[in-house]
Amino acid sequence: MLEVKVLLEDREMPKKWYNVLPELMDLKTPFSPPLDPATKKPLDPSKLEAIFPKALIAQEASMEKMIPIPEDILKVYNIWRPTPMYRAAKLEKALKTPAHIYFKNESVSPPGSHKPNTAVAQVYYNMKEGVKRIATETGAGQWGSALAFACNYFGLKATIYMVKVSYQQKPYRRSMMQVWGAHCIPSPSDKTNTGKAILKQQPDHPGSLGLAISEAVEDAATHDDTKYSLGSVLNHVLLHQTIIGEELKLQLKKVNVKPDILISCVGGGSNFAGLVLPFVPDVKAGKKIRMIAVEPTACPTLTRGYYAYDFGDVAELTPLLKMYTLGHKFIPPKIHAGGLRYHGDAPIICQLVKEGIVEGRAYHQKEAFKAAVTFARAEGFIPAPETAHAIKAVIDEAIKCREEKKKKTIVFNFSGHGHFDLGSYDLYFEGKMEDYHLEKKYIEQAFKDLPKI
Ligand SMILES: Cc1ncc(COP(=O)(O)O)c(C=O)c1O
Repeated sequence: MLEVKVLLEDREMPKKWYNVLPELMDLKTPFSPPLDPATKKPLDPSKLEAIFPKALIAQEASMEKMIPIPEDILKVYNIWRPTPMYRAAKLEKALKTPAHIYFKNESVSPPGSHKPNTAVAQVYYNMKEGVKRIATETGAGQWGSALAFACNYFGLKATIYMVKVSYQQKPYRRSMMQVWGAHCIPSPSDKTNTGKAILKQQPDHPGSLGLAISEAVEDAATHDDTKYSLGSVLNHVLLHQTIIGEELKLQLKKVNVKPDILISCVGGGSNFAGLVLPFVPDVKAGKKIRMIAVEPTACPTLTRGYYAYDFGDVAELTPLLKMYTLGHKFIPPKIHAGGLRYHGDAPIICQLVKEGIVEGRAYHQKEAFKAAVTFARAEGFIPAPETAHAIKAVIDEAIKCREEKKKKTIVFNFSGHGHFDLGSYDLYFEGKMEDYHLEKKYIEQAFKDLPKI
């Protein structure tokens, strides 16, 4: 009988995160460490102590291949993990494709996405080091709600700067954060110097992830009891997400399936990393697995960005990271996938793109929503707009298999549900959703702000 879903017992849940960093050291594209913006030399990790706990700073540069997950984190993970791996047989039938499609369902967590995999870990390490409050940014609100959930669990306060356009588009995400006791503020706000300065120049500024990061970093750096937490991009965040791929490997083994193509959407790169990084050693050993990272055409970092050192935020408060970037001053158009509106990407993923191990691909939001509706009508689950981008690539690859009469195995990450994004679905059905084609001149302008290294 065809398996609909493959489950793992609680006791089968992996007890270690997979750290890809040691594997990246012998690639042709050199691994580029974060730089101190003042000296342009590799950053002294102790400089990060103003905003991060020591345990996470150590994980950021760790060369240990497998990192044990503390028991208290495993206990929280067990609320919703191991997550199911589904066979999307009804989608295969609808597409008349010989391809086999599987997906890892990360939407089953209490906040509804993969984000608590790292939120729980980050809040735990902060709690251990006596931190009382965490400041963070959020785009669509998935990360903010995950951090609110984790802070509530471990008894910390949470202040969440939410990109203003998403704050208006997704009011129920804010409500969710409030239920878990967090304070959610639309960004730009009048709570920080960065926010005040931006509001003075442009009172109706829609906000961006880069700007909300600046506000949260400033908040943490100016309060002794507060640290900052980032929901994507950094090595330790990607590390915590590898529980996805580690579980997936066990589930694929149970049904004796080997993936040909791995697909996920990329905002800062964390859920994509969680899915694919545990397979990097296999690819390096010669296994043919394509890894497709899907981004929005409105914010095409991997497909049209420069591979250069850049700031992670608008106010230039973060270290310089080597990544595909559209320039830290780039304000992406107001697409509905708020979590994909980031000017850069995780340095680890960017190195893998540069190396040719990962392929970048971009789609418009309307075609992504069309794919999401096809998926929801076949499989039932309603995807988040971010996840919809991955699904568009899955459908395209499955159709290609049909045309080429090839039976490939496609596995993707269902990174989150769209229950709080139904307003966006309404606009799609009413024909009121716009696509944005970024003219070259805007991208070239944004590149002018890249720091000179
Ligand atoms: C459901 C969902 N998927 C994907 C993303 C993109 O983030 P990342 O690239 O870090 O996985 C987000 C970000 O908010 C999200 O909410």
